[in-house]
Amino acid sequence: MKTILVTGANGYLASYIVKENKDKFHWIKMTRQDADLSDPQAVYDYVSKQDFDLCFHTAANATTALCEENSSLAHKINVESTMKIVDACKEKGARLIFCSTEQIFNGVEASGPIDEEQTPCSVTVYGQNKIECEEYIHEHLEDAIILRYTWMMGLSFEGVKASPSIVKNVMNALLYQEPTLFTCNEKRGMTYAKHLAKQFEAITRLEPGVYHVGAQNDKTTYESACYVAQKLGASQKAIEQYILPNTKRYADRFRDYRLNADKLASQGITFGTFESNVDELLTDFGWKK
Ligand SMILES: NC(=O)c1ccc[n+]([C@@H]2O[C@H](COP(=O)([O-])OP(=O)(O)OC[C@H]3O[C@@H](n4cnc5c(N)ncnc54)[C@H](OP(=O)(O)O)[C@@H]3O)[C@@H](O)[C@H]2O)c1
Repeated sequence: MKTILVTGANGYLASYIVKENKDKFHWIKMTRQDADLSDPQAVYDYVSKQDFDLCFHTAANATTALCEENSSLAHKINVESTMKIVDACKEKGARLIFCSTEQIFNGVEASGPIDEEQTPCSVTVYGQNKIECEEYIHEHLEDAIILRYTWMMGLSFEGVKASPSIVKNVMNALLYQEPTLFTCNEKRGMTYAKHLAKQFEAITRLEPGVYHVGAQNDKTTYESACYVAQKLGASQKAIEQYILPNTKRYADRFRDYRLNADKLASQGITFGTFESNVDELLTDFGWKK
C-alpha cells in the first residue's frame, strides 16, 4: 500500500479525500501543529523526515482578500513553503500532487472554458502565488501532477468541514433572510467535491502533467445561485428578495475562468455538469425539494 503525506489534513478537500480513501492508502496527515506554512524551513524539516511515496499538497491560504492584505505572508505560506515541499519530494523521489486553481486565469481576456494549454495570467496575489508554485514545480519535478480546480462545493459532515461555496452562500441567504449579492459578470465551474474524492485513486495514477478538474457550467454566478435556490424549493418571491444580482462587480471586464476538463475526461475521470452536481449534492444531504 502506498503512503501519502497530505498537507492541510484538516482542510475541506484533504479531509474529504482522506475519509473517502482511508483504506486505499496509508496516510500521514500533516497539520498546522506539525509545521506552520509561514515558516518554510520548519515545513522542509518536517516533510523531509517523513517516509512517503506521494505528497498531496493541499495546505494554502486560499482566501483572496487575506492574500491581498498581506502579500508577503501569503508568499511565504503559498509559495515558499511549496518550494520546500517540492525540494523534499525531489530528494526522496516522491510524486507530488499539487492543488492549483481556476484563479490563475482571472487576468485572461479570452472566454472559457479554458484548456491546459492556455498561458496563465492572474490579477490577484492568490492566483499569482499559485502560478509561481506551478512554475517551480515544472522546473524542479518530473513526476508531478498539478490539479487546477474550479470552485468546489459541498456541505459539512462528520469529520469534514466544507469551505464556502455557492450552495452554502445561497443557503445562508435564504435561511438567515440576508439579501446577498451574486456576481453577474462572471462564469466559473462549480463542482461537488465528492467527485474529486471518489476519483482520487485514479488521479494518483495519472501521467505527470497539468489537469483541469471540474464540472461544466454555462451559467453566470448569479444564475447559478438562482438555480441552487430553486432546487432548494425557494419561492420566486424569496429568490427575488434574497438572491440579488451584482451587476457592478467586474463590470469593467467579464471574468470567464471556466475550466475545460476534457483532458481528464479522456482518462475516464469525469465531473458532469453544474446542474447534475447541485442535484446530487442536495439529494445526498436531504435538501432537494
Ligand atoms: N475549495 C475550493 O473551492 C478550491 C478551489 C481551487 C483551489 N483550491 C485549492 O485546494 C486546496 C485545498 O482547498 P480547501 O478548500 O480544502 O481549503 P481549506 O479547507 O481552507 O484547507 C486549507 C488547509 O490549509 C491549512 N493552512 C492554511 N494556512 C496554513 C498555515 N499557515 N500553516 C499550516 N497550514 C495552513 C489549513 O489549516 P487549518 O485547518 O489549521 O486552518 C487547512 O487545513 C488549496 O490549496 C486551495 O488553494 C480549492
